[in-house]
Order: sequence, then C-alpha cells, then structure tokens
Amino acid sequence: MGKRAISPGGTINGVVELPGDKSISHRYAILTALAEGTSEIRNYSSAADCRSTLDCLRRLGVEIDVTSERVKVVGKGLDGLKESRKDLDAENSGTTMRLLSGVLSGQPFKTTISGDGSLRRRPMRRVMEPLRQMGAEIKSADGDKAPLEIRGGKLKAIEYTLPIPSAQVKSAVLLAGMYADGVTAVHESVQTRDHTELALREMGASLELTKGTVKIKPRPKLQARNLIVPGDLSAAVFMIAAALILPESQLMLHNVGLNPGRGRVLDFLIALGASINLASVQLRDGELIGDVAVRHAPLKGGSVSGAMTAEMIDELPMIAALGPYTEEGIEIRDAQELRVKESDRVAAIAEGLRAMGAKVEEFPDGLRVEGKSAGKLKGAKVDPKGDHRIAMALAVAGLGADGDTTIRDAECVGVSFPEFFKTLEKLRGAEAA
Ligand code: S3P
Repeated sequence: MGKRAISPGGTINGVVELPGDKSISHRYAILTALAEGTSEIRNYSSAADCRSTLDCLRRLGVEIDVTSERVKVVGKGLDGLKESRKDLDAENSGTTMRLLSGVLSGQPFKTTISGDGSLRRRPMRRVMEPLRQMGAEIKSADGDKAPLEIRGGKLKAIEYTLPIPSAQVKSAVLLAGMYADGVTAVHESVQTRDHTELALREMGASLELTKGTVKIKPRPKLQARNLIVPGDLSAAVFMIAAALILPESQLMLHNVGLNPGRGRVLDFLIALGASINLASVQLRDGELIGDVAVRHAPLKGGSVSGAMTAEMIDELPMIAALGPYTEEGIEIRDAQELRVKESDRVAAIAEGLRAMGAKVEEFPDGLRVEGKSAGKLKGAKVDPKGDHRIAMALAVAGLGADGDTTIRDAECVGVSFPEFFKTLEKLRGAEAA
C-alpha cells in the first residue's frame, strides 16, 4: 500500500460490526490449543498480530484450520504441544510473545521466540523475571530483549506483584501457573484487562478473583468450546473519533466488546461531551458486549492520568489526536508505558500532530495537545513510525484538517485493523449515497 492520502470532510454515517477483539482473539487461540477437544472461534480478529499467534501455535504442532467464518483449533491438551524445529516468529505482536512465553515455560523442551525489529526493541525482562522465579530457564540477547530462548519444565507456584500494570505480564504468569506445583497468585495495584481470567474460567479452569488478586489452581482440564469474539473496542474508537470530528455524524456499532477494563475510554469520551449510548448490553462467553451509538457533539477537553491511563493505554494515541478538536485540549500523564509500545507513541503522535500544525508539549510521561484556540489542523505528510495505532490516529485527525493528509507506510494498520481504510471510506460514502 505504501502511502495513503486522506482527504478531509464528509460525514460518518452508518452501521457496522467490527472484526473481533485482538486481545481476546489471542487468548481464545492459545487456550483452545491447550484444551481437550476441538473448538471453533467465530469473529476471530483479522489482525496480523492474531495471525502471528496462530502461526506460532501451528509450529508447536497445533492443527488449526481458518475459513472466513471461523477458526477451528484441534486442542492438544495441556501437555500435547511439540517442540518446534524452527524458531517461533511473533512478528510485531507483543501479546503473542509475552503470553506464549508463559505457556512455553511449562513445556519440557526448548523454544526460541523472536519478532520483527520493533518487537526486538521492546522490554521482555518484565515476563522473564516472574517466569524465571517459577523455574523456567530463559536466555535473551542482552537480558531484556527478544529473541528469547525458553527452556521450560516443572514450575514452582509463586505469588507475584506486578511492578507495572500489564495484562500481558499477568497473563504470562497465569498461563505458566497452569503448569505449576501449587496455586499461583498475581497481585496488581491497577486493574488491567482480565480477558485471560475470563477465558480460563469459561473453559473450566479454577480461578479465584478478588479485588487486586487472581489465583489459579494448577493443571486445569480446559474444555474445548465454541466461542464468539466480541467486536474490537480499540478499533471501534477510531470510527467513534471520526464521528466526533465530522459534524452531523451518526454511527452505530454492533456487538462491541465492553469489558469494564476496556470501556473506560467511552466514559472518558462521554465526560468530554461526546454523545455515546449503549444498548443490548449482555454477557456472551463471559465477556460483556453491546451496541454503541455515537452522534457528533462538541468536545470540551480533559486529562487522563493514573489508573485511567493504564485502562485506556491502547486508545491514547487517538485521544491525543482529538486534542485539536476540543475546546480546552487534552493532557495525558503517567503514560511512560506508551513509550515502549510498537513505537515510542508519545514521540510519534507528538511529531505527527506537530507536522499538522498542532501545538504539543511533550513530557517524560505523556503530552499535552492544545485545543481549538491553537488553530485548525493542516493536512501534512506524516510518518507513523510503522505503528498501526499512530497511523490510524493521524488518519482520523486528518478528517477535520485543511487539505489532504498523507500517511507513510499506511499498510501498518493491518497489524490490528486491516479493514480500517475500507471501513472509514464506507462510513463516509454512506452519506454521499
Ligand atoms: C494487551 C495488553 C496491553 C495492550 C496491548 C494488548 C493484551 O499491553 O497495550 O495492546 O492483550 O494483554 P500491556 O499489558 O503490556 O500493558
């Protein structure tokens, strides 16, 4: 695809059902692979990241059949994975690498897992430390970065307090806990997404969930299940933001994942003044889903910090890019973790927005984007640094700018939302039709 030009204007109008949630898809793939029997997963994410997880599982001997309707996974049971002759490649996916590190720590063989240039720059000590405490032998190039060489085996149960809020680290420890010699406990002071816990429970594992603590009993017999992945709220947020930028927009999203650990972004947007209403909210396969109706409305501005920053971590690039469309601007703090995502997202979004004429102040732990008083954005050539969420946030910001915005290496959106440009244009075209 190379570069992609976004022309401003139009209206977002229509009804869509988005592809499956990326985080939940990874978990369903991994857990059904470790279950007894054959599972079918519907609405599996179309993200390249989730394909990476399927490819890694295949290398470990799991039979997986993918059609446009469903992903069929023939479960191997907890002890059925096979040593891979080749290294596993998690490509751009931190979730694949960190969650599978937990599973691989419980396997009686050695596996090397690597990734692309971006993933090989990201911190991995955060998973290596607890997994080593459990007894896994893990080698890495410089003590922190992939490739990771993991020799697993019998593990000790541990009680672990997360030093940083990270659902990926929590999940790695819980997955390894299935192979431990007793009950493994993870404590977190800031609640992170709990999709692993919910999926484990749905499939028959014994978990104790109390505020700030998850405990898992070892050796669960996971049962194969037919599961439907909720629509991806983190992808939906780009369409919601587009509707908030373009006047007269009306958007309806069906079957969106509304897990309370992820839904904070909607509360934040409502507090800014967005018109967002939920309907048909229900539990499906242990996850909350519902329909989200959005109408264009003026936005006041606001700030994100503390626990909210962790809960909205993937949405922060888009929230920052809404700054120039608010009265008072947007400030984001306590977001050091944003600097170690697929790119340094604080620097990348600041650079992109500045190129479009926004007034941005950068802090070690976040940024402040001035509101409307700093002037209207101007279309520009922007570089998302190969990061899918930066590319989509800048593209949406371009919808209200003067002149075209050109996104470099726009194909990177495929990492989480391959249908992004198509969906955006369909929703804008619906108005003209
Ligand atoms: C994810 C957790 C978050 C998030 C990532 C997906 C997950 O990362 O940013 O996109 O699926 O568990 P951390 O757990 O490292 O904060």
